[in-house]
Amino acid sequence: MERILITGALGQIGTELTLKLREKYGEGNVLPTDIKAPEDDNLKGLPFEILDVRDMERMKGIVSEFRPDTMLHMAALLSATAEKNPQFAWDINMVGLMNALETAREYDLKFFTPSSIGAFGPSTPKENTPQVTIQRPTTMYGVNKVAGELLCDYYFEKFGVDTRSVRFPGLISHVKEPGGGTTDYAVEIYFEAVRNGAYTSFIDKSTNMDMMYMDDAIDAIIKLMEADPDQLVDRNAFNVTAMSINPEMVANEIRKHIPGFTLDYDVDPVRQGIAASWPNAIDASEAKRQWGFQPKYTLEKMTETMLEAIRNKK
Ligand code: SER
Repeated sequence: MERILITGALGQIGTELTLKLREKYGEGNVLPTDIKAPEDDNLKGLPFEILDVRDMERMKGIVSEFRPDTMLHMAALLSATAEKNPQFAWDINMVGLMNALETAREYDLKFFTPSSIGAFGPSTPKENTPQVTIQRPTTMYGVNKVAGELLCDYYFEKFGVDTRSVRFPGLISHVKEPGGGTTDYAVEIYFEAVRNGAYTSFIDKSTNMDMMYMDDAIDAIIKLMEADPDQLVDRNAFNVTAMSINPEMVANEIRKHIPGFTLDYDVDPVRQGIAASWPNAIDASEAKRQWGFQPKYTLEKMTETMLEAIRNKK
């Protein structure tokens, strides 16, 4: 990876990914794009292009001008948003992905797009979920992710496009808040703990889901994309996770820093239903074995880091 185009660069992952890649590969070698212009003043004067991923001509035009060797395709709608407008989600998630893969094929780009724990469903084994297992998701987001995994494998097998992917769990960060995800409670809880000392969770107390701190997620993308292709038996997509947690576990950890923190529940049936259809804890051993995935943040370390960073924002 030397010259990188990012789609969905203003999203939850894209925002931090852009910052990290600019640091590592140089400002001129990273081109962030998104459907809307950045509001952040820090980005002023730096390269940026408006790109709606449904517009393949424009995508190809940007690539033929910038000449990247890698595309990181991050533009997508998350699970709860996709459930509100499934047809629109198909358009963004699938048409966007197809356009990106076609562009990667034509311009010979290495290609990454994230899959998710949402690619699993109620008939998937819930504990220690293997990488290769039953995938019958019941959400539009999940349908998109499974189809996306297969499409990426297809482009690798059929056209030799170097496609690679991970199934991300819920990602937690203080830089950019997520929008419309089922795992968003695990980000909101930290912001509310610092601002109000209290949080009302839309996910029920004992619902375990996999999570990971954003730094580990970005490291995983870089590590996988830099991995020697001969090491990779699998491609689309690797299970990755750092912890399996529920709202009570996060609250208990927060109370070590904010003793009076209170957690209440007002469970949202839609997002609770999605969470209940996902695994409780996935097995990331293949990512560890094949390309050295090794997350650094535990719940304890992540909680400390999140609370400190949010306090410093005030
Ligand atoms: N964080 C995502 C969501 O909740 C999972 O991939 O939709």
